[in-house]
Amino acid sequence: MTTRILTGITTTGTPHLGNYAGAIRPAIVASRAADADSFYFLADYHALIKCDDPLRIQRSRLEIAATWLACGLDPDKVTFYRQSDIPEIPELTWLLTCVTAKGLLNRAHAYKASVDKNVAAGEDPDAGVTMGLYSYPVLMAADILMFNAHRVPVGRDQIQHVEMARDIAQRFNHLFGAGKEFFALPEALIEETVATLPGLDGRKMSKSYDNTIPLFGTSKQLKDAVNRIVTDSRQPGEPKDPDNAHLFTLYQAFATPEQAAVFRADLLDGLAWGEAKQRLFQLLEAELGEAREHYIALISRPDDIEDILLTGAAKARKIATPFLGELREAVGLRSLSAQAGAGKVKKKADKRARFVSFREEDGSFRFRFLAADGTQLLLSKAFMDPKAAGQMTQRLQAEADTLELQPGDAQFTVGLKGEVIAQSPSFDTMEEQQQAMSTLRKALAELVAE
Ligand code: TRP
Repeated sequence: MTTRILTGITTTGTPHLGNYAGAIRPAIVASRAADADSFYFLADYHALIKCDDPLRIQRSRLEIAATWLACGLDPDKVTFYRQSDIPEIPELTWLLTCVTAKGLLNRAHAYKASVDKNVAAGEDPDAGVTMGLYSYPVLMAADILMFNAHRVPVGRDQIQHVEMARDIAQRFNHLFGAGKEFFALPEALIEETVATLPGLDGRKMSKSYDNTIPLFGTSKQLKDAVNRIVTDSRQPGEPKDPDNAHLFTLYQAFATPEQAAVFRADLLDGLAWGEAKQRLFQLLEAELGEAREHYIALISRPDDIEDILLTGAAKARKIATPFLGELREAVGLRSLSAQAGAGKVKKKADKRARFVSFREEDGSFRFRFLAADGTQLLLSKAFMDPKAAGQMTQRLQAEADTLELQPGDAQFTVGLKGEVIAQSPSFDTMEEQQQAMSTLRKALAELVAE
């Protein structure tokens, strides 16, 4: 059985070396496994939550798409698309929103962190919190459940979101599944072996620490960044401690075990930091040089990337569109005409004769008796109040057997116990009058029988 792997990349920045080692490279390797069915997408709706700069969103979508393709993602083998090209995702988000407990979202880390910060600053707890931030986990659940992903490779900070997606999926299955499990329950996949890369200063490489090494900058930018890696003050010839040098950690993340062993021995042997940096630079150039060329070529042809993404979206929607149809059906958003039940009710209503009351301009009340096809069978006399008119329609049915039908010149009258209570329309011939009388009796009998 194939395992469906799905992950999203929020499009707010430019990928750096940490993203590459921690997410992009392992995801591409995983996508090549024979039994893998991978869905990788640009989470650009999520980007809107964090960023209100349209140019940055636009640029980031292009750069991230180009990065994944340049690093070897094969769009024929995986499904590679933009979240915002799949209208079924926001639609599913709403269906899920309606079964998601508010209390669950109150406990989301990202939201809680904002609240804690506000409280500490003496502000309103929800200051600056948008509904986008608050509902972020529901949108993410829709991303995952839309394609019934089994495994979701994410960073540790996202584990809670995947667990919420499970909760929401279970709740939906329970409420609407009627024995059928609409959603598979997803699991977060944390790559224990993937190193969290240290940045220039030794803390986790992250844009928010401003300590990143660009992935596809120029060769010179790469060299400059490597030269800014912080080291201790040991002089050339002095033994270095590889296990306490993040420069070594960075090297190790891209080297073969043999290369790393040689580097380690040389550091212990007193390799100068300047020389060590030169070697790291060369290693990174070897790993990234070719992909960088590819990246530059891709970035200069945005139309080609657009085509690839739209093709990916069409592939994704082949799954999303019919599945969402099923889900709409499950919650009751159904076509009216396709339902046997509703069809029957409609037919019955159509075929039925009926009384219709109305008010005259002089304030009195009358009713008409209409055949199923809407032709008028009777017009009642005037009543002073609507209740009396209503009672008479009841009597017409209850005493249908004793109605006194009296033919006239052009029309017939209907009496009850000697009192004329209604008259028919006018007819040209006596035959038509007779015909209309029997139609009337039949219509009343049918109505009574129901
Ligand atoms: N929230 C994720 C992040 O910031 C990105 C993301 C959006 C995602 N939707 C997803 C990841 C679905 C996995 C599955 O990293």
